[in-house]
Parts: sequence; C-alpha cells; structure tokens
Amino acid sequence: MALSLPKNLLPLLLLLLCCLGSTRGGKVQVHLVPHTHLDTGWVKTVDQYYYGAHNEIQHAGVQYILHTVIQELQSNPSRTFNWVEMAFFIRWWNEQNNATKDAVRKLVTETRQLEFLNAGWTMNDEGVTDYNSIIDQMTVGLRFVEENFGPSARPRVAWHIDTFGHSSEMATIHSLLGMDGFFFFRVDWADRRNRQESKTMEMVWRGSQSLGQSTEIFTGILYSGYGPPKGFCFDLQCSTVVPVQDDPDLEEYNVDERVADFVNAVLTRNSCYETGHVMLTMGSDFQYESAVENYLNIDKLIHYVNAKSDQLEVFYSTPSRYVDAINKLNKTWTLKTDDFFPYSDNPFSYWTGYYSSRPGLKAY
Ligand SMILES: *[C@@H]1O[C@H](CO)[C@@H](O)[C@H](O)[C@H]1NC(C)=O
Ligand SMILES: *[C@@H]1O[C@H](CO)[C@@H](O)[C@H](O)[C@H]1NC(C)=O
Repeated sequence: MALSLPKNLLPLLLLLLCCLGSTRGGKVQVHLVPHTHLDTGWVKTVDQYYYGAHNEIQHAGVQYILHTVIQELQSNPSRTFNWVEMAFFIRWWNEQNNATKDAVRKLVTETRQLEFLNAGWTMNDEGVTDYNSIIDQMTVGLRFVEENFGPSARPRVAWHIDTFGHSSEMATIHSLLGMDGFFFFRVDWADRRNRQESKTMEMVWRGSQSLGQSTEIFTGILYSGYGPPKGFCFDLQCSTVVPVQDDPDLEEYNVDERVADFVNAVLTRNSCYETGHVMLTMGSDFQYESAVENYLNIDKLIHYVNAKSDQLEVFYSTPSRYVDAINKLNKTWTLKTDDFFPYSDNPFSYWTGYYSSRPGLKAY
C-alpha cells in the first residue's frame, strides 16, 4: 500500500536542503536492490493478487512476477532479487515442477542471486498485532524456507518497508530470530529530517530493556520510501519510463543525461548517511511483472555509470550484502531504545487513530 507524496511540501523541502551537503572521498558504493512489495490482500483479495485477476482494480499478478524474475536471474548471474511474502511464494512453489524447483534452489543457495527477506507469511503490522500472532506467522514462512531450501537460505534481514510505525518489540523479535539487519522507512517525518541532518539514519536498536544486548539489531531507515530514485522506475507500472537509449545515432540518445541524473540522486542520498555506501531499492508495489524491462535498463545503467562516473561504483546487491559491507567498516552506531510510534507522515497527520479507534481489530 504505497502512499502518495506528502500533502505538505515543507518537510520535503527541508529534507532536500539538509541533504545537499558535501560528499566523501572515494567512490560511493551503490547497492542496487531489485525487489517487489506484495500486499497479502489489500484492495484485491489474495487470490486476485496472485493470479492477476481484476486488474481494473489494481494491476497486480504475483504469479507472473516469479515466472519472469526467475528467467531474468538465470540469464545474467550478476542480477539479484529479494522475496519477502511467503504467502505468495509458497503458493507458487507448490505449482512448480521439480526442474523449476531445482533451478530456484540454485538461485537461492548456490549463486545467491535470490534472497529471502523476513520470510514470514506476510510483512506484519507492528501496532495492532499481538506478539503471539507475529511469531506464528513468521514460523510458517521460516519453516517453509528451512524445509525446502535448507539453513543457508534463512533470511538475515528483516524488511518492514510498508509497515506504519515500528515497535521496539519487533526489534526484539527480529533480533532473537537471528536477523542481522532491520530496514523500513515509515517513521515520524520530523524524526526522519533530524536523522538525515545528523546522519543517524542507521543505528543499533535495543528492543528490550530487560533482555538488553541480546535484543540489539542494526537498523536502517530508507531515504524516502521503498521505490527507486525519481525517474528511475523502469517497470511497466510506471507511466513515465525513460529507458536508457544508448545508440549514439539516435536523436533521443540519453546516456549522459541518465548518468548525470543518477549520480545526483545517489549523492543526495549519500549526504544523509555516513558510510559512503548507499542502498537503492529498485522496485515497488507489485512490480517486476515483466522483469526484463527492469533488468535490461538497470544493466545498462550500471554499465554506463561505472564507465562514465568517477564518483560512484554501482552494482547489483541484496540487503544482506549491504549489511555485510557496512559491518566491515567497524563503525560505532547510535543506540535507540524506544519505539518509532506514533507515526506521523506529515505535520498534523498522525496515524494514531489507526491503532486506537479500531478496538475490535485490536482485540481480534
Ligand atoms: C519430484 O521430487 C520429489 C522429491 O524429491 C519426488 O518425490 C517426486 O517423485 C519428483 N517428481 C517427479 C515427477 O519426478
Ligand atoms: C575491523 O576490525 C577487524 C577486527 O578487529 C579488522 O580485522 C579489520 O581490519 C577492521 N576493518 C577496518 C576497516 O578497520
């Protein structure tokens, strides 16, 4: 469930101002993370989402995403993808023959191009959910991964990119599940702005006072959402795709322009983080249904940015590779010990009613 742009542009402007700072020496390491986000039932039923029925309500068909992403990963071993919602993956898996299952196992456990994130049945809410249900829904998905892919496929990164506010209880659960990192972006708008200014978008979160260090988890707030930088959506869902047109004889040859725009987008983000590594989420709701369109353009983007920019090094990555790269820097992070509640996505726009005015839902 993606929200539209902030109604009030003030925080956005402040945010841009704070992020036009200087860059670091050396090439910025740019981790491109192709992904899709799949609501397990929102404006369509889970079945309609899976089969791609009733696209007049929302264009979304999860079975096609898996089919085409697997093909594109096989055709280029540097490409990566990440999968979160096991409610959809398990359904698809059960429809595949052994040859396809073997091929997917190879992508997960050998070439490690396909990474499970979270891997619960769904990406659970953190405000109205009880910890028993959270543990149960995580167990269903994690058990499936363990039984079908073995221990090496176990997810190392928790990924709550579309959860509305975050509770320290969730940091505790993910830490105790053995996750090495936890990523999201829906935090209070002023908190985000302050963290961008002070470059504390990444931190260590200690979820439980009583359990202490054993509940600490590296936590990262995504720059401004879970989509790609503006202008770099190559998916069929995006109405204004600008493909990389690299034949110099073309009137609409645009490589230099595309590279310059990309470098600017990355440097803006880089100035809000302190490691010289930037993770870009290349995907959004129900994207990659025709994955070739995404991958062909991202392949070209990587090629031309690396060839033409002396400021960036761009490559396909996954959140766990990103966490490993950051970890190698031996940094000391700030410590967070409370919740990311209440959630306010704009001034005077609090999501507290979501949790307090639905007592029936909360009880349920
Ligand atoms: C597929 O693999 C399973 C498990 O190894 C096996 O029991 C089954 O007979 C295989 N099916 C076919 C059609 O080969
Ligand atoms: C980080 O610490 C490890 C272990 O002390 C050391 O081997 C490594 O060189 C350090 N890396 C950096 C970038 O300082």
